[in-house]
Amino acid sequence: MPLKQQRFSAGGGGGGGGQNLRHGKTELILNEYCDVNLQQSVLTLLRKTFLTEFADPDRLAAKIQTVKSYLYERNYVAAFGSCPNLLAYVLRWTPFRALAYLHVFGDLCPQVLTLLSVKAARKEILCIGGGAGGEVLALSTIARHIKASNLKITAIDVADWDEVFSRLSYGIQKEYEWIPQADNQDNVVLEFKQADILDVPCFAHAATGNITNDKNDIVDFKSLGLITMLFTTNELFAQSKPRALELLNFMNQHCQKGTLLLVVESAGSYSHIQVGSKTFPVQFLLDHTLVSNQDWDVLREEESAWFRLDEEHLKYPLQLENMRFFLRLYRKN
Ligand SMILES: C[S@@+](CC[C@H](N)C(=O)[O-])C[C@H]1O[C@@H](n2cnc3c(N)ncnc32)[C@H](O)[C@@H]1O
Repeated sequence: MPLKQQRFSAGGGGGGGGQNLRHGKTELILNEYCDVNLQQSVLTLLRKTFLTEFADPDRLAAKIQTVKSYLYERNYVAAFGSCPNLLAYVLRWTPFRALAYLHVFGDLCPQVLTLLSVKAARKEILCIGGGAGGEVLALSTIARHIKASNLKITAIDVADWDEVFSRLSYGIQKEYEWIPQADNQDNVVLEFKQADILDVPCFAHAATGNITNDKNDIVDFKSLGLITMLFTTNELFAQSKPRALELLNFMNQHCQKGTLLLVVESAGSYSHIQVGSKTFPVQFLLDHTLVSNQDWDVLREEESAWFRLDEEHLKYPLQLENMRFFLRLYRKN
């Protein structure tokens, strides 16, 4: 599928091309993965996959309203607490997130493209808080576009996304004509594990670098090429600051040299965290925990990037939103 190169413009991030400044170096950002045709193909994939839910728009609108109220109250347990709520979330919030993540992975983080392009080696990606599938859909779309193979993408999430994730991954495999065969090395494998990433028993195997919520269900952090925490870090810190820090320290200890860690989160005060009597942006805590001892390098940082959609040309039955976010891409030393 040939992609048109899109606009160039200075500054900002997101849907207009831009420049990124890091350590005084200016880089031009191409917006290859903001191509409207590619974006529309992702939206169409979602529409086809969830045809049944779109067939009853009133019911869907009511569910979306319920989830929206819970998200507004930051009551995530209720928001993500039932299958109809999860379906409503996927149809309303995953589409524009997936489009933004196409841009993030494909344009803002060329290191992710490089990782996906390596032909011979097995590539493993862990998407923490990825049950809603936006990042999995974006990574799969890029993998298909660059004909990546030998890739496993695992979403780990505390909510029971199993059924919704299975439908989405089936939709992806069908659209991208990937035949799910576990023994085929060339495959792109998509899998979901339900687990609380902060759950202390998960760290029972800390000495080996594995986490497990039962003995058959292991994630080996040493084998990961990329870890993503997209719009999930704030929730982890809200649940428990010490355990969120423990998770980061676990990564410091057990990720192999070269592993990429991508964090994307709301820009601005929504991502501020209270520590004692002071308030810090969550990225300060991340940088402090990951970089101050030089466990990781920062490859890219954006404090406030915009991803803007070309709504005039995109067709989707529900509202699509522009996104403003901060971004950190770290690489393990
Ligand atoms: C705001 S949603 C973001 C979803 C997705 N990453 C995206 O960007 O569209 C946060 C996700 O993190 C998950 N989550 C929250 N706390 C978690 C935990 N302790 N362990 C694993 N997943 C968690 C939630 O269930 C939810 O799916």
